[in-house]
Amino acid sequence: MEKISPKEIVSSIHQIGALPQTLAAVLKAVDDPNTGAKEIAKAISTDVSLTTLVLKMVNSAHYNRSRRVSKISEAVTVMGVNSLKILALSSSVFSIVGGQDLAEKFNIKRISRHFIEVASIAKSIAEVVDSGDQEEAFIGGILHDVGILIMILHFRDEYEEVLNEMSRSGKGLIEAERKLLGCTHCDVGAELVESWRLPTKLTFAVQNHHDCDSAGIIQEDSTFNNIIALADRLTLGPFEDYYPEVEQNIEFIQEISKTLKIKENDLNKIMKESIVQSIKLAQYLELEVGDLIDILSDANKKLAEMYISLEKIYLEKEELLKKSGQSQAQTQPVGVS
Ligand SMILES: [Fe+2]
Ligand SMILES: [Fe+2]
Repeated sequence: MEKISPKEIVSSIHQIGALPQTLAAVLKAVDDPNTGAKEIAKAISTDVSLTTLVLKMVNSAHYNRSRRVSKISEAVTVMGVNSLKILALSSSVFSIVGGQDLAEKFNIKRISRHFIEVASIAKSIAEVVDSGDQEEAFIGGILHDVGILIMILHFRDEYEEVLNEMSRSGKGLIEAERKLLGCTHCDVGAELVESWRLPTKLTFAVQNHHDCDSAGIIQEDSTFNNIIALADRLTLGPFEDYYPEVEQNIEFIQEISKTLKIKENDLNKIMKESIVQSIKLAQYLELEVGDLIDILSDANKKLAEMYISLEKIYLEKEELLKKSGQSQAQTQPVGVS
């Protein structure tokens, strides 16, 4: 297949007009400290679906208002610029595939669910981590796999082959993408996020959230990337075999948790609570993410899978230490209980 650069892929999507034109204007207005609620409201008003979304959210039970808000400028004041930024970005990301007939080839519900779960978990992780910015962590979660959406749109048929290659080779998404397309969803996502002029740590995490596997970016100074990478590993992936090696994945979860100084109990709590947040967010964004019972049962399965793998790793390490004549292992596994 003809190899094409991430830049060309992103610009081809711009050409077909899949990216919402209003996003840049909204982000610019939200980020400018001199811009008032009126100007932000003006930028939002140019997009009918975003306007509807903002009014729906501000009138939802979440804001607990006694009186209905019908003006966007009032909604801006009630919600605050941070929530607006999150809503504008999230709706922009999901509108990339909105209206496209992709359901036959790809499980869009599962992909959307992955984005939302990673965002909710990343936000909860940021809450317990020193120097964690919850709003940015949430946005990082929504954006981290945006490259997958662009790849799906650009390579409609070829991307299906990538998924087949994953199950054939058992080596995961990154290797399959590299082999068949010559670049990864991380390269393409980072190119897009950079073109949106978002903070560089977002671009870094979009580019590197899988790199903990090979390049070992689990250093203390990569806190933001570690938050996104950890959240990514704690959810049901966007496809089967996203992280095919369960035990290796669990070892990374342990490692990153240790670097971020997250306690075993916190991780357990984060995973359970984020499910409720994800479902609420999906409702606000009017996204179909699947049946509630399925979501809860998948979350429980993930917890059980982690627990079994952690126990196995722990027992194997104990066995090795015993064989080498040393005393009992020093550390207990970090994880869920
Ligand atoms: Fe990814
Ligand atoms: Fe992901």
